[in-house]
Amino acid sequence: VVSYKAHFRVWRGNAAGGELRDYDVEVNEGEVVLDVIHRLQATTAPDLAVRWNCKAGKCGSCSAEVNGRPRLMCMTRMSVFTEAETVTVTPMRAFPVVRDLVTDVSFNYATARDVPAFVPPAGLAAGEYRMRQQDVERSQEFRKCIECFLCQNVCHVIRDHEENKPVFAGPRFLMRIAELDMHPLDAAAEQGLDRQRTAQETHGLGYCNITKCCTEVCPEHIKITDNALIPLKERVVDRRYDPLVWLGSKIRRR
Ligand code: SF4
Ligand code: F3S
Ligand code: FES
Repeated sequence: VVSYKAHFRVWRGNAAGGELRDYDVEVNEGEVVLDVIHRLQATTAPDLAVRWNCKAGKCGSCSAEVNGRPRLMCMTRMSVFTEAETVTVTPMRAFPVVRDLVTDVSFNYATARDVPAFVPPAGLAAGEYRMRQQDVERSQEFRKCIECFLCQNVCHVIRDHEENKPVFAGPRFLMRIAELDMHPLDAAAEQGLDRQRTAQETHGLGYCNITKCCTEVCPEHIKITDNALIPLKERVVDRRYDPLVWLGSKIRRR
């Protein structure tokens, strides 16, 4: 079928409250949920707020929940729904609503600022860094992250537990810590920064019980749990908080 009318239910409201509203809207072949939301804006709901930029799954702006599943609206094809099915679009649940489908994701920016950056190795200029290909590839997987925050939104530790936000960085940022902790050139330890200890004590690594919901929703298919969170947990356990073991491990890695 080239074109049909779909039934959409879209959450409308703001920080004070809101409701699901019903819309019948045209859908054409090849369209994604974001196209339909744009058609709603162009027709019956010109004041509908939605955040988006690239429409190519690369900017991470259009995160929302479609039929209760965290998704990028621009990467969710209408062909996955039957024509009779109601498509319900709601804002991400773990973050405060600004308006309609737009949430305030500043928790993630604040958390990002809390993770100390890569510390360059002393005595080497940027062009002189050398590392093994497997270390490069590990970093590259994590760096595919488009910061859509769908993993942050789905993780049960903060999804319905606002009180955990101050003590849990969430999968995206624990992955960032894992990347830096496993980076062969990161010289944080030499500067007295213990990434493993802060992962556990400041960023709540222990709250993660490996449910893997984060991995399931990642639009970049990053193996967040298997390749970042579990290895980071193993490194923390191996060391058993013994500073000598930690120092030894740093020296052996040279
Ligand atoms: Fe999005 Fe995946 Fe990055 Fe999480 S890790 S913010 S789900 S791209
Ligand atoms: Fe949460 Fe992912 Fe761990 S969903 S509990 S961070 S495996
Ligand atoms: Fe950029 Fe969807 S609009 S990821």
